[in-house]
Amino acid sequence: MKNSNKIKLISTIVFVPLLIIGSFIVLHFIDRSNNMTKVHTEVQEWGKFAGINIKIKTEEANDYSTSISTPTTSNDYINEYIKSWLDEQEREFFAQLKGFSGNFHEDMMAHLNIQLDIDEINEHIYNLIFTTYTYLGGANGENKTKVFTVDLESDQIFELVDIINLQDEKKLKTFKKIVSKIVADDETLIATVDIESLENFLLQHEQLEWSLHKNVFRLYFNEYAIAPGSEGVIKLDIPLEKLTKLVNINIVEQFELSVIEDQIEQERQQAKAKEKQKKEEQEKQTKEKNKAKKKPNKNKDVKSDGKYVALTFDDGPSGTVTPEILHILQEFDVVATFFMLGSQVDYYPDLAAEVAEQGHEIANHTQNHVDLTTVKQSVAQQEIVSSREKIEKATGQTPRFIRPPYGAYNDTTLNIISKNDESIVLWSVDPRDWKNRNPKEISRNVIQAVKPGSIVLLHDIHQTTAEALPKILEELQKDGYTFVTVSQLIDLEDMATMKVIRGH
Ligand code: NI
Repeated sequence: MKNSNKIKLISTIVFVPLLIIGSFIVLHFIDRSNNMTKVHTEVQEWGKFAGINIKIKTEEANDYSTSISTPTTSNDYINEYIKSWLDEQEREFFAQLKGFSGNFHEDMMAHLNIQLDIDEINEHIYNLIFTTYTYLGGANGENKTKVFTVDLESDQIFELVDIINLQDEKKLKTFKKIVSKIVADDETLIATVDIESLENFLLQHEQLEWSLHKNVFRLYFNEYAIAPGSEGVIKLDIPLEKLTKLVNINIVEQFELSVIEDQIEQERQQAKAKEKQKKEEQEKQTKEKNKAKKKPNKNKDVKSDGKYVALTFDDGPSGTVTPEILHILQEFDVVATFFMLGSQVDYYPDLAAEVAEQGHEIANHTQNHVDLTTVKQSVAQQEIVSSREKIEKATGQTPRFIRPPYGAYNDTTLNIISKNDESIVLWSVDPRDWKNRNPKEISRNVIQAVKPGSIVLLHDIHQTTAEALPKILEELQKDGYTFVTVSQLIDLEDMATMKVIRGH
């Protein structure tokens, strides 16, 4: 022993300068067992690899050889932890070798070879991947993999549960599915791997060997575990983008896993865009609702003691006359009420919407202009409901009034409208513009008949009615009348409680 210490001292002095530029070698002799076997030990220290020193100690004796790579990191706790594992491997090997003593000799030596690969994830997180080859007789040796994933800054040696919590049944199920699919989709793997054994192994996830890399999560299966022994250790690489929903979020940050970070960011952006779209949609709907709620009120000078008249236009909208009437009403800055037919709204939904947008009131004149007193109750009901729905859809306004065609209604009609809190609106002035196609006569008929509180029946389907309109508006305004919608008139003239409104 004295002698070997001397050599060690000399060699240390001689080789110290070499340490700086690369590796150095220490030679010494020890007597490991008590059976006087001479052992030759050699230690090579490779400079730094990715911030970690690797020391390779090899021993050669008459009946065995060992080669063991030991890492020395900047973290003492982690160094100790790994050293004790390596020592345990060595102890086990020699214990078994002792049991086989006499079986091995120069021509058939036992071997223990522990190699180290280092994968750097960032400046402080590493995968230390040990590959152990043991030969203790028989036809073949045994290969095994052991990985330590460590954080040198936080003393952390990661366990699988830190990376993916497979104790969560749902996650385990998803994980099993992903891994099985990777094997099934790979021609080489599917030919060798036994899926059932693989799935059984995944269920015993505490025993899995794994390493986490920048782009993949790797699983290691020792020989015979899931494939024939001749295949050696099986490595399964699972692309990280497949594990975005499984990897613990704090690990994603700690390991700076940009593949997952990018994907999370992408999903976040997508969710944000979706949220924005939803919000815009809601805003649009609210706006339309408000528009529908907003009662037409162009006449700001409406007073309860004034002279009011409500012009009403039936049977439209018409593609030619309605736009002309809208234009005239706009010129005089007055509002009116349009009793629309559902069948016409079907043809001109945009025009119906335009009428509402200009502040006029929309009311219901049934779907097909049938006499409600001559049809079955179900048909009458359908005539009213169908038209109301079409008006609502096109204009955003819910009609408050129904004008039955020909002014014809009965108890059945009243029953139907009562259910919906609607009222029947008839008229008190009829210039018979549907029959009399003379604009001058139409306007004169209106002007002569109107009294405060009148409801005037007109039709926005006759060109002559449009032509009569400017004169009506001009003269009545001159006479001090204010034009209001039917709703406004009813509120102003205290007719709100009436189920059938005719106007004064
Ligand atoms: Ni009509």
